[in-house]
Amino acid sequence: MHKLIRNARIYTPRQHNGDPAPAGSGAALRGSAMSRVAVYDPGAVLIRDGLIARIGPQDEVLAQIGAAPPPHDAAGRRAEPTPDLVIDAGGRCVIPGFVDPHTHLCFAATREDEFRLRLAGADYMEIHRQGGGIMSSVRTLRAASRQQLLERTLSGLARSLSFGVTTVEVKTGYGLATDAELRQLETIRDAAQMVPQDVVATFLGAHSIPAEYVQRREEFVQLVIDEMLPAAAQTGIPRYCDIFTEEGVFTVEESERILREARRYGMGLKAHVDEIVNLHGAAMAARLGCVSAEHLIAADDDGLKAMADAGTIAVVLPGTSFSIRKPFARARAMVDFGVPLALATDCNPGSCYTEAMPFIYTLAVMQLGLSMEEALTAVTLNAAHAIGMADRVGSLETGKQADLVILDGASPAVIPYHLAVNPVLSVYKRGELVAGG
Ligand code: NIG
Ligand code: FE
Repeated sequence: MHKLIRNARIYTPRQHNGDPAPAGSGAALRGSAMSRVAVYDPGAVLIRDGLIARIGPQDEVLAQIGAAPPPHDAAGRRAEPTPDLVIDAGGRCVIPGFVDPHTHLCFAATREDEFRLRLAGADYMEIHRQGGGIMSSVRTLRAASRQQLLERTLSGLARSLSFGVTTVEVKTGYGLATDAELRQLETIRDAAQMVPQDVVATFLGAHSIPAEYVQRREEFVQLVIDEMLPAAAQTGIPRYCDIFTEEGVFTVEESERILREARRYGMGLKAHVDEIVNLHGAAMAARLGCVSAEHLIAADDDGLKAMADAGTIAVVLPGTSFSIRKPFARARAMVDFGVPLALATDCNPGSCYTEAMPFIYTLAVMQLGLSMEEALTAVTLNAAHAIGMADRVGSLETGKQADLVILDGASPAVIPYHLAVNPVLSVYKRGELVAGG
């Protein structure tokens, strides 16, 4: 099945700036490479069996199509058959499907009550200390049936898709006991089989010290190491292990122990670090060879430079800063220091309840000091690198999956410009229309 999308204004980061290196090789983009966005106007994409067969300026792509014998064009490339379906984008902007590399969208119940307390002046971590926050979600998840948890997870994934997210990471961390963490992992796996998106699971059994272990935290760390991690690894579901390194949650020393153990099971490493207090978690993430470090609101220059040296991807979560009314992470400094930068929703029922990657893009452009191009790279290709998916998704390049979004505007600038509405008209996953029209 061949499909052609034509009459499009295509904006995409590229792993390989026009050279024919195989899709997928290479690292997350950093520094000025983050601005290296290709624009094809007018552009076209030829999709064959869900993959991008050709992409580029429209006249070049059209020249490859429908040519009868000889089977090779003047440049010696094989010509493509006439497409079975032609989609006219009407001059609208086409970008890669968003990749959301950090969510906690597998949860059982919302926490509006807490949000109201925060509106009245309560502090996010104070609520956590008093046994609300993450523990509140743990209580509701443990009490929920598999079906309830699955339905809520599916509704989050459906909303995410409607905002153009075609690849998404989902963490556990609301079980905090072996059976409940496994149930959460299995729910993520089951949901993944029922939605069009690619879903990457992360084990976050060390998201908080559960109430029953507060007086014996060392026992909980040992439980994670001795029981939860091996059981999680045994399922084959999680690709990554994450941890919440924060004052009053896990120390750097405990985090290192758990993450080093996770690596023994072949999991990639991630860490929530330096969100509220600078515990030098950024440096820890760099030292451990974490794929990414998340939040980083309080990270200092040394931490960011250590990440740049190690190639650790910063996953910045501006929706969380907005929602818990904290400063934004220093994304501009990160790019300038050469830290590869990705952006995510952090979708969760506590600190940031949104599935809307376009809103994250808006915050990046309006509040983080990123250019339209840098922000686009951060929500697509670099986000794909942060969850090990960049060989298949994250940019519109030959050989990658045809995961793309048609926006209701002429460039990605429409996202912050047409403020607070869903700018996504159509969502294609592996070449199939999966949301919008
Ligand atoms: O990334 N900071 C830690 N964990 C989540 C919030 C989880 C929650 O409040 O339920 C976050 O913001
Ligand atoms: Fe998070």
